[in-house]
Amino acid sequence: MKHPLPALAAAVCCLATALPAAAQFQKPEDAIKYRHSAMTLQAAHFGRVAAMASGRAPYDAQAAAENASIARTMSTIAFAGFAPGSEKGAPTRAKPDIWTDTAEFKKYADQLQTAMAKLEEVARAGGGADALKGPVGDVGKLCKGCHDDFRNEKLSN
Ligand code: HEC
Repeated sequence: MKHPLPALAAAVCCLATALPAAAQFQKPEDAIKYRHSAMTLQAAHFGRVAAMASGRAPYDAQAAAENASIARTMSTIAFAGFAPGSEKGAPTRAKPDIWTDTAEFKKYADQLQTAMAKLEEVARAGGGADALKGPVGDVGKLCKGCHDDFRNEKLSN
């Protein structure tokens, strides 16, 4: 595939058909942009659900379900951006351990996807802000755990 589409547009266009593992990058820089984009969107949409869970935003069942669904999708594609060879090539906070301790990194990614699926299920059930608290907390712990272990404080360059 040699389409000159920006990575994010490519990701959005092909969500329905392409498996995350099929994401291909011409340059390490493209993979880095892709994961930054997916992580940013994941954070934005998860953040909206988390704000309802904590009472910082009013509860809205439909918005909770929609945002949880987008966050879940982003959690499934974000990790395709940690492609082999993309340890450097653009400023990144990814630790090199991601490519050496891949099993541990993948464990966090898998657990996140399970926790996101649970959050979406609960959000779709529409049980109110309190019902979101547990699943939001579980997701948040995994974001933090992986960032503590696999993300540097500072950009590489
Ligand atoms: C399996 C590990 C892992 C999990 C789980 C994870 N992240 Fe990340 N995240 C990373 C790494 C590594 C980076 C740094 C990527 C880089 O700079 O190339 C990152 C970067 C980010 C960024 C910064 C993006 C940018 O443009 O620099 C945000 C925001 C973010 N993550 C949000 C989240 C949120 C929210 C969650 C949970 C819903 C989450 N992450 C879960 C590993 C993870």
